[in-house]
Amino acid sequence: MQDLRISLLDRCNFRCPYCMPEAEFNEDYQFLTRNERLTHDEIFRVASIAVRLGVTKLRITGGEPLLDKKVVSLISRLSALEGLEDLALTTNGVLLAPIADKLSDAGLHRVTISLDSVDKQVFKVMSGNRGDLDKVWEGIAAAEKAGLSPIKINVVVQRGVNDHNILETLERFRGTRHIVRLIEFMDVGNRNGWSIDKVVASKDVLELIQARWPVRSVDKNYPGEVARRYQYLDGKGEIGFISSVTEPFCGSCSRARLSADGTLFTCLFATQGTSLRDTLRDGSADEVIVDILTRIWANREDRYSELRELDSDERPLMNKIEMYRMGG
Ligand code: GTP
Ligand code: 5AD
Ligand code: SF4
Repeated sequence: MQDLRISLLDRCNFRCPYCMPEAEFNEDYQFLTRNERLTHDEIFRVASIAVRLGVTKLRITGGEPLLDKKVVSLISRLSALEGLEDLALTTNGVLLAPIADKLSDAGLHRVTISLDSVDKQVFKVMSGNRGDLDKVWEGIAAAEKAGLSPIKINVVVQRGVNDHNILETLERFRGTRHIVRLIEFMDVGNRNGWSIDKVVASKDVLELIQARWPVRSVDKNYPGEVARRYQYLDGKGEIGFISSVTEPFCGSCSRARLSADGTLFTCLFATQGTSLRDTLRDGSADEVIVDILTRIWANREDRYSELRELDSDERPLMNKIEMYRMGG
C-alpha cells in the first residue's frame, strides 16, 4: 500500500448525477452523523500509522472535503508526517478560492479539481444544478497563485452529456500547465444509472484529440499511476486518460481508501471493507491497528475492473459502496 485516500465526509454541495444523483440524495437521505464519522484525531492516527508502514501519498477527498470547516488544521498535521512525499486534495473547487492560500501554507502540495465541462449549461447539468462555474474558475486561479500545482482537472466523460464539448474543455486549459484527465464513466456504486453505452472509450477520445492537436504518449510518473499521459506536440501541455472500463489497471493498484466512517477499502468497487472505528475507539494500542492494516493489504485480491466483463451477469447483484462514501 503506497497511496491512502481519506474521505473526510460523505456530504457534498453538488449532486453530480454520476456520483450523487439528486433523486436519491435528497432531504430524506441519511448522511453520516458527527459521531459516525471519524474525528480528525482518529483520521490522523490512521494516516500516521499508514505512513509509518510505508504509505508515501495521501489524498484528501469527500464528498466535498472543503465542507469540513477544520480541513486546514488537519492538513497541517498530516503534512508534518515524516516520510510523506505527496499530499493532495480532490475538490469540486467551489469553496477553494477563499482558502487556497491557507491550504498551501498548511502544507498541502496540490489540488485536483473536478470540472466536467467549461460550457456553463453542461457544467450546470453535470453538477446536478448546484455548481457555480465562475466560483470554480476563481478556485483554480487561487490554487494556481497559491502554488498548489500541478493542478489536475478531472473530466468524467459521458456519452450524450459532455462528450460533444471535450475539445472546448481541453482548449480552455491548453497552455495553462493544468493537466486535464479524461475519465471513463465508471460503474461505481449502484445508483448512478451506469450502462456501457454511456461510456466513451478513451481510445475514441484520443482519436478525436489527435485529429485536432497531435499528441504523443509519455511515460508514467510513478508505478501504479492510473492515468495514461500524453503531451501535445505543440508544447501546450499534458493530458491524461483514466480508462478503468476499457483498460483496467487493477494489477498495478497500490491504493487503499478510508471512508468517513472509518472503513478501510482496498478497491473502488468494493462491496465491503474493514471498519477501524471500534478499534480506534476502544483503547487499542497502535500495534493492533498496524496488524489490521498489514493483514488487510496482504490479503487483498481486488481486481473488479478486470472481472467486470467476465462477471457481467452477476454485476447488478453486487452491492457496491457509493463513490461519495468511498472518496473517489
Ligand atoms: P495523481 O495522484 O495525480 O496521479 O491522481 P490519481 O490519478 O490518483 O487521481 P485522482 O485521485 O484524481 O483520481 C482520478 C479518478 O481516477 C478518480 O476519480 C477515479 O475516477 C479514478 N480512479 C482513481 N483510483 C482508481 C482506482 O483505484 N480504480 C479505478 N477503477 N479508478 C480509479
Ligand atoms: N465515474 C468516473 N469518475 C467518477 N467520479 C465520481 N463518480 C465517478 C464515476 N461514476 C470521480 C470524478 C471526481 C472524483 C471525485 O470522482 O472524477 O473528480
Ligand atoms: Fe460531489 Fe465530487 Fe460526487 Fe460531484 S463527483 S457529487 S462534486 S463528490
